[in-house]
Amino acid sequence: MPDSVKRLTGLGAQVVVEPGAGARARFSDQRYKEAGATLGDPWECDVVVKVASLAAEERDRLGPGQIVAGFLAPADEAAGMRQLADAGVTAYAMEAIPRTTRAQAMDALSSQSNLAGYKAALLAAEQLARVVPMLTTAAGTVPPASVLVLGAGVAGLQALATARRLGARTSAFDVRPEVAEQVESLGATWLDLGVRSEQQGGYARALDDADEARQRDALAAAIARFDAVITTALIPGRPAPLLVTRAAVEGMQPGSVVVDLAAERGGNCELSRLGEVVDHGGVAVVAPVNLAASVPMHASQLYARNVEALLGLVLDDAGALRDDLTDEILLAACVTADLELAR
Ligand code: NAI
Repeated sequence: MPDSVKRLTGLGAQVVVEPGAGARARFSDQRYKEAGATLGDPWECDVVVKVASLAAEERDRLGPGQIVAGFLAPADEAAGMRQLADAGVTAYAMEAIPRTTRAQAMDALSSQSNLAGYKAALLAAEQLARVVPMLTTAAGTVPPASVLVLGAGVAGLQALATARRLGARTSAFDVRPEVAEQVESLGATWLDLGVRSEQQGGYARALDDADEARQRDALAAAIARFDAVITTALIPGRPAPLLVTRAAVEGMQPGSVVVDLAAERGGNCELSRLGEVVDHGGVAVVAPVNLAASVPMHASQLYARNVEALLGLVLDDAGALRDDLTDEILLAACVTADLELAR
C-alpha cells in the first residue's frame, strides 16, 4: 500500500516496488512513486515481502542474509523451505504468526478470513433464489431467509454478522462449544449437535470417525430447514472435515445455497468443485477460491498493516535491519530456523 511505503520511507528504509504490484488493488505505480518508493526489481532487497507463496524461480533468487515474508504455505512447501534454509535465507510465514494478543496486529490469517467471511455471506445472498430480509409489501410479506454457518472461527463469525446485517435469521455450529457465547452475541442461535472436539492451542482437533459420522447425520437432518449454509470448518494441517453430504444437499429446498469456504482445503461439502458453482437439483453449491482477493483494496490494506507490524520487529527505529531477531513472534513465524539447526 502506498501509505505503508510512506511510513517505511519515513523511518529511513528504502522501498522497492515491483511495477504493477498494486494494479489489482487499484493502486497505480505512480502512487507508489509519490509515496517514496522506487519501481524496480525487489529480489535483491534485504527484506522481500509478498502475498502468496514463492515460485521456484523466486526462491532461486534469494540468498544469504535475506529475509522473506508472505503466506509461504510451509506445510505444502517443505522442500522449498529447506532450500531457503540451505541458502541462508530467513523466511517468515504469515500463517505461522501465533494467535496471541500481542501478535494480533500481524495476524494476516484473521484479517483475510474476516474478508472471506463477509464475502461468503454476499455470495450466499447473490445465489439464493429468494431475498434475504423480511419484506413487507402490498403483495404480501416475505419472511427472512435462514442462514446456517458451520465453523464459527474468524470467517464464520464475520459471515454470521454480515448475513444478519442483510436481514437473515442466523444460526451456527462449531465443535468448540465455548464459541456459543460469541455466536449468540451476534444475534445468532447456537445449533447444538452434541458433538465437540478437544482443543490444541485454540484450534479445534479433528473429530474421531464415529463423532464425524454423528455430526454429518445430525447436520443432514438440521440443514434441510435452512435457505443458506456457509461452511468454514478447518483443522490446521489436515484436509477440511466433510460436514455436508450429497444427501444433506438433496434434503435442501431448490433455490437454496451452500457456500463452502473450505473448498481450497478439500471442502466441507461433498459436492463442492473448486472455483465453480454446481447446480445440484436446484441447490447452488459455491466453492470459491481466494475470496479475500475479490475485495482487493481492503485485502491489500489489511495485509499491508499486518506486514508493517511484522516489519516493526525486523527493522529498528531508523528503518535498518535489527541485529537481534529473537522476538518470540519472529521465532514462531520463522519457518527456516529449525531446518537450519537440523542441517
Ligand atoms: P480455522 O479457520 O482454523 O477453523 C474455522 C473453525 O472451524 C474453527 O472455529 C474450528 O473450531 C471449526 N471447526 C473445525 N472442525 C469443525 C467441525 N467438524 N465442525 C464444525 N466446526 C469445525 O479457525 P480460525 O478462524 O483461524 O480460528 C482458530 C482459533 O484461533 C479460534 O479459537 C480463534 O478464536 C483463535 N484466534 C485467536 C486470535 C488471537 O488471540 N489473537 C486471533 C484469531 C483467532
